[in-house]
Amino acid sequence: MRAHPILSHARFEGQRVELVSHASEHAERAFQLLHGNEEILRWLVWNGPRSQGELEAFYGQWLRSSDDACDYDFALIEKESRELVGSVGLHFIGHPGTADIGYWLGRPYWGQGYMSEGLRLLIDAGFGHLGAEVFQAHVFAGNERSRTLLERVGFRALPGAAGEDRYFTLLPGDWERSRGDWAPAAVELQRS
Ligand SMILES: CC(C)(COP(=O)(O)OP(=O)(O)OC[C@H]1O[C@@H](n2cnc3c(N)ncnc32)[C@H](O)[C@@H]1OP(=O)(O)O)[C@@H](O)C(=O)NCCC(=O)NCCS
Repeated sequence: MRAHPILSHARFEGQRVELVSHASEHAERAFQLLHGNEEILRWLVWNGPRSQGELEAFYGQWLRSSDDACDYDFALIEKESRELVGSVGLHFIGHPGTADIGYWLGRPYWGQGYMSEGLRLLIDAGFGHLGAEVFQAHVFAGNERSRTLLERVGFRALPGAAGEDRYFTLLPGDWERSRGDWAPAAVELQRS
């Protein structure tokens, strides 16, 4: 397993949103946005939190590392209001350097480009700081918003039949082409 950095805190700032290492204090707003919200949950490989306490415990350990896996989970924060608007995660398992991504955005915040910026921050962090060599994403059949989002930030769909789940990948060259002159406004990493 490739070494991924063990950090106590991380923050990746964009123009309108930033990614901040998840903490228990994010659970209250995240639970309000997620609990029972099938518009979001139907597309995740997770049934959602059963209680705010479950989410508090989960977010309290934003970095989980073992011999063959490493997860990083971040809150997506709207800079102007300082409110949590969604969540993104990087999951390394089995294949060194291969980062699976997962994400959701609260329903009131769809359609404004927040997750496009959030994923750019996540990709830049992954390639630049967290040991990613390639990204991959799995999208359930019918999740057109997620498919469009991934293509907007540079992912390519692997061949697949219409009406089936789709798999996407992003290589460093794809990212360099897609990002153009985009760069994060600030990066903070605190090592444990
Ligand atoms: C997938 C998901 C995050 C996409 O949300 P989204 O709002 O479509 O994505 P963005 O925040 O990037 O916003 C893009 C939209 O904002 C618009 N936009 C406005 N300003 C923008 C900007 N500066 N940059 C990019 N897009 C912008 C885009 O045109 C696009 O509009 P559209 O809704 O008319 O297509 C959201 O639908 C979601 O959470 N779904 C449920 C969970 C889920 O599917 N997770 C992924 C599982 S694979």
